[in-house]
Amino acid sequence: MISFMKQYVVRDMNKISVAIHGTGFIGLVSGCCFATRGIKAINSTFNKGNCERINNGESPFFENGLDELLKEAVSSGNFKCVVGRDKAIEESDISIIAVGTPMRKDNSIDLYFIKQTARQIGHALKKKDEYHLIVVRSTVVPSTTRNLVGKLVEEASGKKMGKDFGLCMQPEFLAEGRSIEDTFKPDRIIIGELDQKSGDILQSLYERFYGNYLENCPILRMNLESAELVKYGNNCLLATKISYANEMARIAELVVGVDIVQVMKGVGLDYRINEEFLGAGVGFGGSCLPKDVNAITAFAKSKGYNPRLLTSVLDINADQTIHVVSLLKKELPDIKGKRIALLGLAFKPGTDDMRFAPSIRIAHHLIDEGASVIGYDPVAEIEAEKILGNSIDYASGVEEALYDADAAIIITEWDEISTIKVEDFKKYMKTPIIIDGRRVYNPEEYNNDIRLVSFGRTEIS
Ligand code: UGA
Repeated sequence: MISFMKQYVVRDMNKISVAIHGTGFIGLVSGCCFATRGIKAINSTFNKGNCERINNGESPFFENGLDELLKEAVSSGNFKCVVGRDKAIEESDISIIAVGTPMRKDNSIDLYFIKQTARQIGHALKKKDEYHLIVVRSTVVPSTTRNLVGKLVEEASGKKMGKDFGLCMQPEFLAEGRSIEDTFKPDRIIIGELDQKSGDILQSLYERFYGNYLENCPILRMNLESAELVKYGNNCLLATKISYANEMARIAELVVGVDIVQVMKGVGLDYRINEEFLGAGVGFGGSCLPKDVNAITAFAKSKGYNPRLLTSVLDINADQTIHVVSLLKKELPDIKGKRIALLGLAFKPGTDDMRFAPSIRIAHHLIDEGASVIGYDPVAEIEAEKILGNSIDYASGVEEALYDADAAIIITEWDEISTIKVEDFKKYMKTPIIIDGRRVYNPEEYNNDIRLVSFGRTEIS
């Protein structure tokens, strides 16, 4: 779907160099993917230790397949990581901004790193004569790219946007744990552009990067502000689907014999809806959905509109971690002093990311009620310890987590956890009470020796 005349080209697209400012999921994965397809990529960071590790082919965080991809990128000769922005900008034609936009205490977006990076790019551009394209890939509230990034670069460089430098906003849709696959196989590319020249250059980069793949992947061009809102529209709808499924699960629990998994399967088969993100359970976490729904809600409120649907989406999500404890207390009314195993701590499988993980809130609720908590996660223990410290114990495997436990809660559906056998629960636990917060076990397969409580399903007794 390449339908735009390219009137402008930055020198030879085959010799294009891209600077990526930021070495998180988006930044590092993008840099490595460009490099392995022959595009020179320079990641920039201010963290010397991380820079060294990256140049040695070692990712500073866990992401499926990234260590291998990084090694491939480094040995291709097309990739390097540098400290500071200047060198990366001097040697490149395009700057991609991929720094974090965390949540402030008041739940609004924190644009500190965006502002800092825009100024740094501006300072570097002051020393450069050539036209440079700046692409914002960080998630930012509408008007940030033009009114903050563009203006700050102008101020710091003394140059004019649209004349000396171009500006694009290209939202990213990478999910953690599958960010390499999502980068190589996107379902669409959204290009928000200040002007046609900016958009043409970015489109040319992706034509070079994706080749024939673009025949099945539309490139949609629009203005900067609409592109910024596409990202929020996307994450808000994903979060809404999850909270909707959780609300339906709570209704399912009111009627004996109803099973939310079957209900959502039935609903999801509607071609207008689809089955994705209708998984009921302990709710959504991570660095994106909670942050983005909160940020756009705060943004809307700051402009005088109260987004009631999104507020409810967040409320329902918060409730699910309280609900899991009430389901447990139906089985074990007094949890004071009881040993509760949390199986899975990361916000989802395939990552060690603990940001806004439901496990954190569940652990706090249990500790507040006097329970003793032991957690197990195949990769997230170190990250979990940074947040939960010694308020819980950490097991080195499923067996140790279950040993002598009064109950277990399934929080993250790692394969290793989804395949635990009924016999193992019986063998290791003091009382085999399982609260399945991700609907990984088939209730039909469990016999009377074990008590399986499944979200969104009330047993026919
Ligand atoms: C999300 C989006 O899926 C990406 O498209 C987006 O690019 C990314 O945020 C971002 O803004 O950067 P991510 O946070 O990595 O990606 O993870 P998801 O796979 O979306 O899962 C988010 C949470 O929802 C997890 O805690 C997961 O367990 C939960 N979830 C997901 C459910 O509770 N039920 C479901 O059916 C699906």
